[in-house]
Amino acid sequence: MNKASNLTDTHAHLDFFGSDQAVEKVISRALMNRVNRTITIADRLESSYRAVELAQKFDSVYAAVGIHPHDAKTVGPNTIKELKELAKSPKVVAIGEIGLDYYRDHSPRPVQQKVFAQLLGLANELELPVVVHDRDADKDVIRIIAEQGIKKGVFHCFSGNVSLAETVLSMNFYISIAGPITFKNSGNLVDVAKFVPLTKLLLETDSPYLTPHPYRGRKNEPAYVRFIAERIADIKGVDISVVEASTQENVSLLFSIPK
Ligand code: NI
Repeated sequence: MNKASNLTDTHAHLDFFGSDQAVEKVISRALMNRVNRTITIADRLESSYRAVELAQKFDSVYAAVGIHPHDAKTVGPNTIKELKELAKSPKVVAIGEIGLDYYRDHSPRPVQQKVFAQLLGLANELELPVVVHDRDADKDVIRIIAEQGIKKGVFHCFSGNVSLAETVLSMNFYISIAGPITFKNSGNLVDVAKFVPLTKLLLETDSPYLTPHPYRGRKNEPAYVRFIAERIADIKGVDISVVEASTQENVSLLFSIPK
């Protein structure tokens, strides 16, 4: 089998699967489906510790550390310092997920903005890419990224339109597509997938959420990233091996992970 015919799940929350044994099962199913790399993403300090621990335990797992905008209000004086220490661990490949969420507003907007800026600053200092969560906050997300001079990152679980995708590409960021591209009501996403060149696309499950068709209703897991790759190959009218090869290349370039 061709080595290029592997896939990476660039965004999974493996801490949600529980014990090491449970995660091991999820990871081995991913490997069986030729998902040879999974980046486990943190949303709080606790899950940042867990992400690093899982990356140390499992060869195919890499970690991102960060604070989700929902939890911005939990950030205390030592949080950034602790994240900085954690981020020095060799398998930490990004700061994330971080950003702004004006849909749920679980943390006050000024607090979300302040923490987002701080975490972007940390990424800059450590020369790590960022994994960005943007929900109904495009303008402020783009402004704060520009203010902090960030040039390396990805808009995860992209749900915007082509015009937002155009802006994101002009910032030299990647666009990551998740399970909703496989849904019947995928709306804008099909146009976005057509528009974004394969050199700028990443794939993710955002598991355990957003299970792709045909497994909607089940718990999502990294193995299912294959359905997203297949759908994108279909939309772009290319062979799946083309999607595999280019997304693997993109992962290596953005996160500095060997293929
Ligand atoms: Ni996520």
